[in-house]
Amino acid sequence: MAHTASAPPTAPAPRVRYLTGITTSGTPHLGNYVGSIRPAVRASQRAGVESFYFLADYHALIKIDAPQRIQRSTLEIAASWLAAGLDPQRVTFYRQSDVPEIPELCWFLTCVTGKGVLNRAHAYKAALDRNTAAGVDPDTDVSAGLFMYPVLMGADILLFNAERVPVGRDQVQHIEMARDMAASFNHRYGAHFVAPQAEIEEAVATLPGLDGRKMSKSYDNTIALFSSRDELRRQIATLRTDSRAPGEPKDTEGSALFQIYQAFASAEETEALRQAYAQGIAWGDAKTLLFERIDREIAPMRARYEHLMAHPQEVEALLLAGASKARALATPFMARLRSAVGLRALATGAVTDTVRAAKAARPSFKQYREADGQFYFKLQDAHGTLLLQSLGFADPRAAAQTIARLQQGAAQLDAERAVLAPIADALLEPVRAALELLAQG
Ligand code: TRP
Repeated sequence: MAHTASAPPTAPAPRVRYLTGITTSGTPHLGNYVGSIRPAVRASQRAGVESFYFLADYHALIKIDAPQRIQRSTLEIAASWLAAGLDPQRVTFYRQSDVPEIPELCWFLTCVTGKGVLNRAHAYKAALDRNTAAGVDPDTDVSAGLFMYPVLMGADILLFNAERVPVGRDQVQHIEMARDMAASFNHRYGAHFVAPQAEIEEAVATLPGLDGRKMSKSYDNTIALFSSRDELRRQIATLRTDSRAPGEPKDTEGSALFQIYQAFASAEETEALRQAYAQGIAWGDAKTLLFERIDREIAPMRARYEHLMAHPQEVEALLLAGASKARALATPFMARLRSAVGLRALATGAVTDTVRAAKAARPSFKQYREADGQFYFKLQDAHGTLLLQSLGFADPRAAAQTIARLQQGAAQLDAERAVLAPIADALLEPVRAALELLAQG
């Protein structure tokens, strides 16, 4: 986002908040790595982004009723992301079920979501269609959990006011629904939520599996991301190829082996394999090349993965630390939402007038535009004294979103420093107090 240069100093582009969940229902395979883990880890390292990644274990309960598999998958997925380079210092990496504010918000959103909207959700409709086609009752084996899936997902996203949600195409409808939930809630209770946007990684390859179809657990054609070197070699040996003999030129077009190689190799390496195909490389040798190339990327991570799998308490500690980071935002925000909907301490109801008066005597944000064409905001206390002043924003929405985040409480202040004019020491406490007051709704 370009901010035009002019005095006073221009704010750097505010960080965009990304959030995505990974359902803990399986063991990561190379397709997950290429399509999701690797791009997400890279994205989290970019400047100007703030990333939230979480293990969607409440979502897993919708599909799986095998407790040990849920536990095992949670560990395997967490260990895989960490081994692949996700830095839990830099991102907020947590387990959904460690954040009780998520199911609480899920209920609030349930109450502002039309049942008819959920009737139209693809996953639910697909289940009904299957049952109808099978001639059984349409709701056979459809849990209320499946029906509510999009609302839980909305809560995941809206609790952190995430702006971008990287997902596969199949999830876009859920993000649209989350936008609707945000709008319905804001309409009833005031501006609390930012509308999230789906971000589909078009460039990201879907990897073919061992049989040439898309690599997917449901086709049983996956190559495990983390297994031993020998096991990786063994799995790659079973990759389906055509029957051309050594010395016969081979087609790169439609070759799963070639496509998988390409997902790991540099442009030069890919070109070299293309030539080897033309010159009739034996499939056995091509498989060895593929194995060595994948192993070169995975081997350094494998040691870390194996360490983490052998020390689940380390993963547990990292996830719990991530949950406290997440809850530092979620708890005050949820308190504000509870108050907004009217779940309040009764004593505050008994002194309505005082509350009204207090409300009038509250600190407030003001947003405005300067002659330089940029957008600014300031925070004033109840008497109009200036507490906080922003730098200039080229984009008024960016200014509004920064205000929205600051209104979540004083804990947000440090993260926003880069877009604020320096705060005098003497004002620091009053600023914090004002933000806390605003966060309480
Ligand atoms: N439903 C997503 C999937 O199956 C996982 C998920 C749960 C998620 N909560 C989310 C993704 C919130 C993005 C944001 O892929």
